[in-house]
Amino acid sequence: MQSFNSVQIEKNIIKQKVKLKQLSHNYKINFENIEKKILIDVEEVEKLKIQNKKIIPEIDYKNIKYQLINNEIVDLVKKRGCVVIRNVFEKEKVIKWNREIEQYIDENNYYEDQKEKAGLDQYFSDLQSGKPQIFGLYWSKPQIEARESESMAIVKSWLNNLWKYEFNNIKIFDPNKELVYADRIRRREGGDASLGLSPHCDAGSVERWIDSAYQKIYEPIFSDKLMDYNPFNAQFRDQTEEISSAAVSHVFRTFQGWLALTEQGPSDGTLQLIPIIKSMAYILTRALLDDVPNNSLCGSMPARALSVNSKYHSVLLRALISIPKVYPGDTVWWHPDVVHAVEDKHHGKNYSNVIYVGSTPYCQKNFDYAKKQSAKFLEGKSPPDFAAEDYEVNYTGRATINDLTALGKKQMALESWD
Ligand SMILES: [Fe+2]
Repeated sequence: MQSFNSVQIEKNIIKQKVKLKQLSHNYKINFENIEKKILIDVEEVEKLKIQNKKIIPEIDYKNIKYQLINNEIVDLVKKRGCVVIRNVFEKEKVIKWNREIEQYIDENNYYEDQKEKAGLDQYFSDLQSGKPQIFGLYWSKPQIEARESESMAIVKSWLNNLWKYEFNNIKIFDPNKELVYADRIRRREGGDASLGLSPHCDAGSVERWIDSAYQKIYEPIFSDKLMDYNPFNAQFRDQTEEISSAAVSHVFRTFQGWLALTEQGPSDGTLQLIPIIKSMAYILTRALLDDVPNNSLCGSMPARALSVNSKYHSVLLRALISIPKVYPGDTVWWHPDVVHAVEDKHHGKNYSNVIYVGSTPYCQKNFDYAKKQSAKFLEGKSPPDFAAEDYEVNYTGRATINDLTALGKKQMALESWD
């Protein structure tokens, strides 16, 4: 884990930018070529949007369960870097979970605690729109049940298998063994107009330029070979080292995602995505151009989310779209390089609620994290990746080890997979 020394990081940014520029025959022409290619995708998204056609691929869970997915869909998911998987859970079950979470919050006086502990988590503080209604709760029974369910395991295994994970007979990760990543809950009131998240990526900001594993991952992009870059190549993805900070993810997620607890769609204060997997190539090479100061990466700061903004990335932002309407039990997934945002305004009347779920397959990096995470779980504390708000230590109704299934224990690294 890298320590957070801003002077040192700035010096390193200057040094690494020189090195990255030298990987290309001409970094300006490389950027221009990348921009041309990305523009084709941007225009495709714009055209489909005008025609009111589907942009983000949608799959029904049953088709995954019964292995009825054709290559065309797989290719589209890989191109867009995101997918809506519907009906992973029965609607009635999820409506019940949503009510149970509400009770858990109310009965344990979460709001009072929250006032005292607000400010511990600075991760999103640089994003213009401020902090959304995200609850630092990880261990409610519905969250545990959703994470350890068989249907979730089937979905994650399918997602993990989209990656190329085996090289010279060595597996970077095991796509069919999941180590669950405990994350938070979003509950957004109807009419809320103050809270949103501007476009960003997680899993590292400046690290994407300065970390040696990230440099290997993105090497084809910097060295004029965009077409050779496979965003689903897992090599080195498990070896990135993140700058230490509360609320920065220290696991390798094949996909980020969430489970919809309520019906929500465009204008309901929900998720937006730039459904172009290779957008990252644009972001990376844009920062090398001469109008960006040597010590700057287009607004990305250490220990924060990677910033995508109108000053440097207006071409990409043209393709920012809201997800289609989803219903309780549907899930949304996006590749860790996909830019996402939360709409500023919730124009609807009802809550738009989600349980965050990431897909974190078994590999050494995720296993090391899962061990630390399970120690926190046993005490009811916040997981290691998040601010130590520890709301749930004395909460009634919190899940304990007795609530875990046999699969759940393995996924929490509390029992061996062997
Ligand atoms: Fe995010």
